Amino acid sequence: MPDYTDILTETHGRVGLVRLNRPKALNALRANLLAELLDALKAYDADDAIGAMVITGNEKAFSAGADIKEMADATAVDLMDWGLSDGWHRISTIRKPIIAAVSGFALGGGCELALLCDLIVASETAQFGQPEITIGVIPGAGGTQRLTRILGKALAMEMVLNNRFLKADEALAHGLVNRVVPVERYLDEALQLAGEIAARAPVAVRLGKEAINSAYELSLAEGLAAEERAFYLLFSTEDQKEGMRAFVEKCAPEWKGR
Ligand code: CAA
Repeated sequence: MPDYTDILTETHGRVGLVRLNRPKALNALRANLLAELLDALKAYDADDAIGAMVITGNEKAFSAGADIKEMADATAVDLMDWGLSDGWHRISTIRKPIIAAVSGFALGGGCELALLCDLIVASETAQFGQPEITIGVIPGAGGTQRLTRILGKALAMEMVLNNRFLKADEALAHGLVNRVVPVERYLDEALQLAGEIAARAPVAVRLGKEAINSAYELSLAEGLAAEERAFYLLFSTEDQKEGMRAFVEKCAPEWKGR
């Protein structure tokens, strides 16, 4: 990995970890940070030695959102020229699973970044919110759409129109996060979960992620057809033969990723 300025990267077995690293700005997502994050995720996505990724911040903040100081004087055309939305969209094209390990603030674009991930492990101190209304705008990286799909209209309206924060236990109750653990354990828990997924049949993991995410884009009939095609496709992999052979022979499968 190159020397990044706004993120740190490290690998844990088959898991690639990205730490957002602007602690003095509560990991505000300036353009350079987003570009580095995308670059690192793409590198892990292309690396056969990596099976899953974790994005984290620090105990106080996963991220307090887009960098307000960077955006304050921007015009609409500046934002278009910077290709701001494009960067966010490209994170959703990463094919391997991404887990957000969230502690403290996950606000604005920070909340939206967590929502772009496939699973979320939260510490007991995690808080999710879309405070853009307090600075005269609305979420711009998917919050109005993804929160509404996950939480429903009533709660999404409160969050977006009236700066309602969700604490970790509420986020768990509403299905926004997968699990909540004590703050000392949130990163280890996320790494362990990522490690377990990374040890599974790689092509099946990738197609499973794709099929679930397509449920947000397609009608039920189209989604079922997409799932069916992916299911059949897996029967062309060596790993399907290996997995079913190992089950029948009562031994552990050895995945090849093809
Ligand atoms: N952008 C830029 N800088 C930020 C920031 C942000 N989103 N959030 C915090 N910071 C900076 C602060 O300016 C401060 O810097 P200085 O020390 O240089 O003054 C530093 O981080 C620490 O922040 P605070 O002193 O404010 O810390 P606090 O603990 O008192 O408050 C907070 C924490 C409630 C999260 C508060 O920082 C806050 O409200 N931040 C802004 C949250 C927000 O509105 N996010 C939405 C951004 S817009 C967006 O994300 C659009 C989108 O959809 C893509």
